[in-house]
Amino acid sequence: MIKPHGAEQLNPLFAYDTEKHHALTAEAATLPSLLISSAAAANAVMLGAGYFTPLNGYMNLADSLSVARDMKTTDGLFWPVPVVNMVDDAADIAIGSRIALKDPNVEGQPVIAIMNVIGIDTATDAEIDTITENVFGTLDGDHPGVATFKAQGNTFLSGDIEVLNFSYFQADFPDTFRTAVEIRNEITERGWQKVVAFQTRNPMHRAHEELCRMALDDLNADGVLIHMLLGQLKPGDIPAHVRDASIRKMVEVYFPANTVMITGYGFDMLYAGPREAVLHAVFRQNCGCSHLIVGRDHAGVGDYYGAFDAQTIFDEVPEGALEIEIYRADHTAYSKKLNKVVMMRDVPDHNKEDFVLLSGTKVRQMLGEGIAPPPEFSRPEVAQILMDYYQILDQK
Ligand code: ADX
Repeated sequence: MIKPHGAEQLNPLFAYDTEKHHALTAEAATLPSLLISSAAAANAVMLGAGYFTPLNGYMNLADSLSVARDMKTTDGLFWPVPVVNMVDDAADIAIGSRIALKDPNVEGQPVIAIMNVIGIDTATDAEIDTITENVFGTLDGDHPGVATFKAQGNTFLSGDIEVLNFSYFQADFPDTFRTAVEIRNEITERGWQKVVAFQTRNPMHRAHEELCRMALDDLNADGVLIHMLLGQLKPGDIPAHVRDASIRKMVEVYFPANTVMITGYGFDMLYAGPREAVLHAVFRQNCGCSHLIVGRDHAGVGDYYGAFDAQTIFDEVPEGALEIEIYRADHTAYSKKLNKVVMMRDVPDHNKEDFVLLSGTKVRQMLGEGIAPPPEFSRPEVAQILMDYYQILDQK
């Protein structure tokens, strides 16, 4: 199987040893505590689950600047997005101390991790802008990822962590949330060698379904890992439990048995387009995938990125930095001429009218009115689940 990123073995920071877990839980109750941001809690989940191998915790300011500018840490590890714990005020926190990090996303704010505070650096506004612009490609406060990033404080708390739980993900999505450790194990159990990952934060319409099928066929892969984001999204995006249900239905009806693993990971959406695509590749390598599908406007939002920027950024990845390969997909849609879903580049001399194309707004409007999009666009079973969701939502 493909090796984890930058390491021989996965490096999950969850305290798997029961005795150690007990000891840390007892210790947590005695430590000074700090309520962290949702983004920092999501980083703890990804670190705990092994997805962010080989990191040992949160990055300091120097590493964050280096990662933002050059996609590598000051030690030269290839890494595309800073993994940080940014706070407003660290006046009560001492360098060298251990602190208990509290999860803002779970009732009662339980301790999610214990941190060894190695560094406390307060960034200047110019440094925050450098990170923002390099990671998100913009400083525009209307960009949802920029807004979330900038709403955290300017002080970077860095250091190793030990993780005590996987936030709300395990409780809320017991059938879908998986750690990188579990996914690697399941891939081994299934005997899969070539595994293609499909990143998603949306329900899967025909274009997405066929994209997975095309990748499976073109790569002659053993299976596809549908790996959905389960964390925070921007307002208006479809919640994970609805996406999960519609994806499960689609796979059940339209894919042969044992060709798809339906899984999810606990991370908030960054909407960082190209940089997020590279992060996606890093953590799919960590969960044992040989390929990642990157299509049109991957991890994008609005008009901030070019439709294929999330593919061309991989041309900047230094040789040998990643082992996972990218399956670059063109705009995919149902061709009326060919009577099937295809990539546009495979239809010579086409014009847009040859394809069944619907904007996100149009699809949302139709579903809300109880009108199923055409079957060339959405499977009826998927449309039904989405119509049920929107109708309940619109009645509220
Ligand atoms: S993402 O933000 O998680 O990337 P989404 O769930 O919409 O969003 O997309 C999942 C994957 O499918 C991404 O790789 C994206 O580029 C790709 N994709 C979505 N729609 C299309 C399309 N019509 N044509 C080609 N690729 C697409």
